[in-house]
Amino acid sequence: MPKLSVWMIRAALIHMGIGFLFGSLILHHKGIPIYDWTWRLLNPHIEVVVFGWVMQLVMGVAFFALPRFPKREKRYGAEWLGWLGLYLLNGGVVLTSFAYWSENTTVIIVGRILTSLGLAAYVVLIWPRVKAFAADVALQQKSSVAHSKQSN
Ligand code: HEM
Repeated sequence: MPKLSVWMIRAALIHMGIGFLFGSLILHHKGIPIYDWTWRLLNPHIEVVVFGWVMQLVMGVAFFALPRFPKREKRYGAEWLGWLGLYLLNGGVVLTSFAYWSENTTVIIVGRILTSLGLAAYVVLIWPRVKAFAADVALQQKSSVAHSKQSN
């Protein structure tokens, strides 16, 4: 597995731990209300599980699972964009979560911009790799040639 995937999946697992902890505290408070501040964890919970956990896990797995460039030296594409995405996304999620906790709207917007830029960098990196495998294309061409011969 490439290093970028390793770090994305590791970061996603850390977000999972934190996000589930926040969710558990809210759930506990719903059953046995002891700490009023737990409801302030709702937005950080959503931020961390949706972007930090689920989205980042998908990004990490897709980075090694999607077709690579067989003829290029950089088989995974412009990997630096992925690292930039990793830093921006994680920085953005952490910043937005703290900003929700401290109810600072300006910082929430800054955090969201960082997250979006991270996602954009990743999309630019991964877009050219969203294509059919070379073997599948060859198979499709072969079957369409056979089909046209039959109809002639
Ligand atoms: C992939 C995992 C998860 C995702 C994507 C997720 C997402 C969400 C979202 C979007 C909400 C807001 C729902 C709304 O406002 O209507 C929410 C609320 C909540 N989540 Fe999660 N969550 C996840 C896992 C968990 C876990 C593991 C727990 C607890 C152990 C948990 C506990 C809660 C609680 C207690 C609420 C508040 C429900 C309420 O408004 O009464 N979540 N979650």
